Amino acid sequence: MKTVRFGIIGLGLMGRELASAVARWGHLENIGVRPVVTAICSKSLAPARVGWFKENFPTITQVCADYREMLANPEVDAIYCAVPHHLHQEFYTAIIRAGKHLLAEKPFGIDQAANEAILAAVRERPDVVVRCSSEFPFFPGVQKIFLMIEASAFGNIFEVNGGFLHSSDLDPNKPINWKRIIALNGEYGVMGDLGLHSCHVPFRAGWIPRNVRAVLSKIVPQRPNGKDGKLVPCETWDNATLLCEATDARSGSVFPMTLKMQRIAPGQKNTWYLEIYGTKASVRFSTKNPKRLELLEYRGGEQAWQQIDLDYDSAFKTVTGKLFEFGFSDSILQMMAAFFHEVATGTPLRPAAGCVTPDEAALSHRLFTAALKSQKHQSAEKV
Ligand SMILES: NC(=O)c1ccc[n+]([C@@H]2O[C@H](COP(=O)([O-])OP(=O)(O)OC[C@H]3O[C@@H](n4cnc5c(N)ncnc54)[C@H](O)[C@@H]3O)[C@@H](O)[C@H]2O)c1
Repeated sequence: MKTVRFGIIGLGLMGRELASAVARWGHLENIGVRPVVTAICSKSLAPARVGWFKENFPTITQVCADYREMLANPEVDAIYCAVPHHLHQEFYTAIIRAGKHLLAEKPFGIDQAANEAILAAVRERPDVVVRCSSEFPFFPGVQKIFLMIEASAFGNIFEVNGGFLHSSDLDPNKPINWKRIIALNGEYGVMGDLGLHSCHVPFRAGWIPRNVRAVLSKIVPQRPNGKDGKLVPCETWDNATLLCEATDARSGSVFPMTLKMQRIAPGQKNTWYLEIYGTKASVRFSTKNPKRLELLEYRGGEQAWQQIDLDYDSAFKTVTGKLFEFGFSDSILQMMAAFFHEVATGTPLRPAAGCVTPDEAALSHRLFTAALKSQKHQSAEKV
């Protein structure tokens, strides 16, 4: 078994989630590679947080507040970096140039200029594997949809709708955090926060937006500051609806594709969904009901939607029995398996079982930048 010495920068929500996947690595069967957490880094080294990591990962030999110390550590081969968006450019370019493999976080640069600077570093170091996190393609329902796409089972695709919906910002008393501040999250607002999740599967499927008409909304203009309850501006876009004209790279056909990203979608907690409508088959999948795939296969005659209870049929095989349910932390484990598989072998297990590539992230930046322009001018913009 090949081991990859693994460092984690940013020990917040996602830093812990991915570390926990490493702790569960034995869940994967025949993976051929194993990450070993050797180093952690965070600006605030709160003892409780560092304690959690050290207790669960006795292999950690470096704890630092300055990420450059981790880059100088020869005991680190690969890094997961989960820090606020204004730091992506500086941290990602330094990690890549230090020759460490990088599993980055979205939006892969706070804006298009930052993204281009990161891409320049990627081009300088073709020996380094650089990917961006996006876990939803690894749900078995989405893997099944990919198999249908590869088999051209949809016929002529004439509409695609996808999105990612949250609801906790409906509460006007929820204190502000960095994701609602333009300087830290970026002008993209919700698109920077949730957008790449909505784009990954369509882009990987080869559905490329040619143009976009965006409607962006700011719904809650002020929030408590989280200290003394004083209200401060909540600057970022809460919701985004992007209506694109997309080209199917396989067939050349053109169809409407709507991508929705909403911080304020009443009742939705972490709902990622995809609907594909085609002349031979249509599907609907949502993580709200992760076991269920809705499928309509049309061969003439009655048009009937089937509701299929899916097996636990993951891209990377696990010890879980096929009747059991797949969840968020399973998707994170699968995504990690995909990243380390690429680090170990140089190629994805199969096209549908890969993390976001730098080119896909760059396309999302072109889309979100065009969407900002579209909102500003109330126009359709080329992507
Ligand atoms: N893939 C997903 O499902 C998903 C979910 C949530 C967030 N994210 C992304 O993950 C990234 C981090 O988000 P989060 O929710 O974990 O944020 P968070 O606020 O919970 O954690 C951020 C961490 O970065 C650390 N940090 C800040 N400045 C630093 C510095 N100068 N040096 C070292 N560490 C520093 C903080 O101490 C904190 O530990 C963002 O890019 C976000 O978009 C991804």
